Amino acid sequence: MKLSIAIITCSSTRKLADDTAGAALAQRIKAQGWTVGAHIVVPDKRDRISQAIVDASGKSNIVLTCGGSGLSLSDVTPEATADVCERNVPGIVEAMRAASMEKTRRAMLSRAVCMQRGSTLVVNLPGSLKAATECFDAIYDQFEHAVEMTSDLGH
Ligand code: MTE
Repeated sequence: MKLSIAIITCSSTRKLADDTAGAALAQRIKAQGWTVGAHIVVPDKRDRISQAIVDASGKSNIVLTCGGSGLSLSDVTPEATADVCERNVPGIVEAMRAASMEKTRRAMLSRAVCMQRGSTLVVNLPGSLKAATECFDAIYDQFEHAVEMTSDLGH
């Protein structure tokens, strides 16, 4: 199944040119034969992140946010995700955190959520290159089946 996956990097300091985490995610998406539906950087502002998720979800099967899921007061990506999504999909972020705990106990500091906006799956990934790629690697094998299910194609 050919997926379209959008990347939204949430950072008030990064620009697209220095978004190494987003670039590494794009490389991994293409390596699977999938399409990068969009790759943008938005500031750590709740309404800007929500709007970017709305815009991307019409066009992509999966939206990956990158960054803004920690404990700093400026980290608002999970809240922005919940603002525009309907259903919680806890297993994906549980799997991500379980795999991440094998690498660093700081994984427990993630507030990431995975939710459905209609038939689009939105997954919060952490923002550093290392963390974002480790988390992607922990969950991407279930993306195609997840989209088959969100698209009501069954098992
Ligand atoms: N997960 C993995 N696999 N590797 C990491 O280094 N860092 C953690 C966590 N998850 C980390 C990880 C840390 S330190 C934080 S604060 C949270 O992700 C949230 O990161 P974010 O604020 O960049 O979104």
